[in-house]
Amino acid sequence: MRIDVLSIFPEYLAPLELSLIGKAMTEGVLELSVTDPRSYATDRHRTVDDTPYGGGAGMVMKPEPWAQALESVTAASPSSGQPALVVPSPAGEVFTQEIAYELAEQEHLVFACGRYEGIDERFIEWASDHAVVRPMSLGDYVLNGGEVAVLAMVEAVTRLIPGVIGNPESLAEESHTGGLLEYPVYTKPAVWRERAIPDTLLSGHHGHIARWRRDQQLHRTAQRRPDMIEQLDPAELNTADLSILSEHGFRVINGSLQVCAPDPEDGGGH
Ligand SMILES: C[S@@+](CC[C@H](N)C(=O)[O-])C[C@H]1O[C@@H](n2cnc3c(N)ncnc32)[C@H](O)[C@@H]1O
Repeated sequence: MRIDVLSIFPEYLAPLELSLIGKAMTEGVLELSVTDPRSYATDRHRTVDDTPYGGGAGMVMKPEPWAQALESVTAASPSSGQPALVVPSPAGEVFTQEIAYELAEQEHLVFACGRYEGIDERFIEWASDHAVVRPMSLGDYVLNGGEVAVLAMVEAVTRLIPGVIGNPESLAEESHTGGLLEYPVYTKPAVWRERAIPDTLLSGHHGHIARWRRDQQLHRTAQRRPDMIEQLDPAELNTADLSILSEHGFRVINGSLQVCAPDPEDGGGH
């Protein structure tokens, strides 16, 4: 995969050279480079922003330096089709693990990191003739620039590329894969500061351990992210799963899981 990041603060992306992503680059699994749109500004001050039409606070990034920066990276695109252009924006679609898997399939990903009040909208419109444009938000809050969002998205995407993570099996049971959060994990010693790990994990019984982990996933997701439970297909849950969820007030109603008042018969305690 090739990744191009367009940013007026190229140094912000330096951490990508560390750890597993840096190793993937060294090993040739991943090619990553950063282009500064400011190098395409033509005036003496290398201006990349200007005041907004219609008035208002802040500055808007001028479209031409961004267009030239994008042209420079699409001209050298390894992709047979159009590259994907991710434009970080709090007004974008929320980035998820599912989208990370989609983007991990791409041959060429370009990220355009806005600053100030964002990039002139005509750049986004023009870019859609040259790339598959995806305005993407990291979450419902506002950052100063797209670079931090790109660090997070590039890490989430590239760790899914075969060969980047040492043990690909570790991806299979992670939070957000399969619609549930991950179960709690423990390591040695078995007793730490008078806290023992759950007995089941020492039993050596694979079936019991798998069931315990599944129960923990269901409890944790129901408590922390009930919205994720509502997205589950009840047809894919067994009786034990449904029993755990009923402790958190979930019932199957008209083919979907919905929260109702907890059933006192179900007890609790986990
Ligand atoms: C100060 S923000 C601009 C916010 C813009 N005025 C708005 O309200 O939608 C500057 C830049 O930070 C980035 N950014 C801010 N919040 C983000 C988020 N939640 N997800 C992704 N990028 C974000 C975008 O690149 C954005 O262009």
